[in-house]
Amino acid sequence: MNIRDAYIEFFKERDHAQIPSAPIVPENDPSVLFNTAGMQPLVPYLKGAEHPNGTRLCDYQKCLRTNDLDEVGDTVHHTFFEMLGNWSLGDYFKKESLTWSFEFLTKSLNVPVEKLAVSVFAGNEVVPADEESIEIWKSLGLPEKRIKMLQDNWWPNMEATGPCGPDSEIFYWSSTEPVPEEFDPNDETWVEIWNNVFMQCMHHEDGSFSNLPKKNVDTGMGLERITAVLEGVKDNYQSSVWKDVIAKIVEIADCPYEGNEREMRIIADHIRSAVFISADPAGIKPSNTDQGYILRRLIRRTIRYAKSLGIDLNSNWEVELAQLIVSKFGKYYPELERNAQVVYDVLTTEKVKFGKTLDNGLKEFAKITENLTDKKLNKDLAFKLYDTYGFPLELTVELSQEKGIEVDTEGFKEKFEEHKAKSRQGAEQKFKGGLASSGETEAKYHTATHLLNAALKQIVNENIHQKGSNITAERMRFDFNCDHKLTDEEKSKVEALVNEWIQAGLDVTIQQMSKADAIASGAEASFIERYPDPVTVYSIGDVSREVCGGPHATNTNILGTFKIKKEEAVASGIRRIKAVLTD
Ligand code: ALA
Repeated sequence: MNIRDAYIEFFKERDHAQIPSAPIVPENDPSVLFNTAGMQPLVPYLKGAEHPNGTRLCDYQKCLRTNDLDEVGDTVHHTFFEMLGNWSLGDYFKKESLTWSFEFLTKSLNVPVEKLAVSVFAGNEVVPADEESIEIWKSLGLPEKRIKMLQDNWWPNMEATGPCGPDSEIFYWSSTEPVPEEFDPNDETWVEIWNNVFMQCMHHEDGSFSNLPKKNVDTGMGLERITAVLEGVKDNYQSSVWKDVIAKIVEIADCPYEGNEREMRIIADHIRSAVFISADPAGIKPSNTDQGYILRRLIRRTIRYAKSLGIDLNSNWEVELAQLIVSKFGKYYPELERNAQVVYDVLTTEKVKFGKTLDNGLKEFAKITENLTDKKLNKDLAFKLYDTYGFPLELTVELSQEKGIEVDTEGFKEKFEEHKAKSRQGAEQKFKGGLASSGETEAKYHTATHLLNAALKQIVNENIHQKGSNITAERMRFDFNCDHKLTDEEKSKVEALVNEWIQAGLDVTIQQMSKADAIASGAEASFIERYPDPVTVYSIGDVSREVCGGPHATNTNILGTFKIKKEEAVASGIRRIKAVLTD
């Protein structure tokens, strides 16, 4: 049985609309590099916006967490994972949510009730103890001893800003040993398999909490974990999610899994993440900043471990592994098949690039570390490994750790800045994850992006379309097709037109309509395939209409002054504008 299919079927039968997995790179959310939870693309709707597909949703979402990238290699850590989720946007609440989770586990997946335990929120000054959930769990047949009240049953946590709330977590006894009568949350044999969050609060930047306009439910179940526990494997990489990938690595490396587990798990995990990132509609390529840097690290780490297993780097191993992943997941994520060639090219290009310097870099590393007197690698040497041999800092740190050597990572970072190499510190900030902070500034930039798109069409060429966008609290970046460098005159006209629209105080309005109607109405619809049908169309006065997920300013008069800071080429036929809004 396919758990993904069974899950979607179950919730569709309960009137949930299935929505497609959003791109793994969040659109217009600069607070994170990748989606780290199924709810992330739904933040605007949890905050109260109307979702075009209604108030009951379900999906499987591509997620990637990089905060414990270096932990990958043990039995449980992964970077990429799939999260199964169902949501109520102000529709049902605790009773249905917990009952359906229970039913899906015990009836659809045949998990014996005897193997389950749950935790509920113990209460604090924001929200009282969740007695209601306790009663629901009891009525479903859970013995009192299997229900624990815990203070940290709050998602994401009490510190994170954004939508949040108390949660109830479901645990599974993951051993063949007899199940203890009483649930002990500190006993790791109890594995958390599903989280039901009662998303009813908003945590503001100033530290205060308020109620969200509606009481929502957000649930999340990690597919890799539920599969492993149900299949009774102790090592996630031995479950049906991974088994054939590991088998392929065994075949290519021509050595057994036993004794090489760590290397093989890292290769399996990282290559799968690299395939999903490079197949994503965001078009990420290996680079030295942000998502591109993560992709580069994942691929280079894969290559390093492939080499240590004795895989011939010149063979086609990376494409063979990627092909297996594309065929395994393509049915659920059609972009893998659509972009398969792009994925193979990304992997091979990066392999060739890094493969050229890896040998020499490893030799250099051995030489450097042999001559160290104090087990410390200074910033200049770490930087040399980066600059000359393409070693991401983390690779140098990892190699050094194996020899008990400490790297001056702070010094490296200073040097990195000094050399005016593109900063990856922004990326580090964002590694930490956290929730979408679709703050007011980002909303303003988002609206400014639509105005810029419209102005470019009027001033430069009506066939210009958005090819990419990235917004931070400090600036906006907008990529578009154009066959020439904009002239100074074009730039100043575009700027003037955007400012004219801002000053005109145009209202931003929202309509829901089918994709077909949206296109027929002349709405700008780049990337329309990424959105579920029906779609949301944002109009700004009568100067712009775009299919978009929001959020936006409600009127252009709060945008301030628009200024183009830079116009440059990013690829053949694609130009990029960086612009800011000032008060
Ligand atoms: N958003 C919740 C989680 O990730 C369901 O655990």
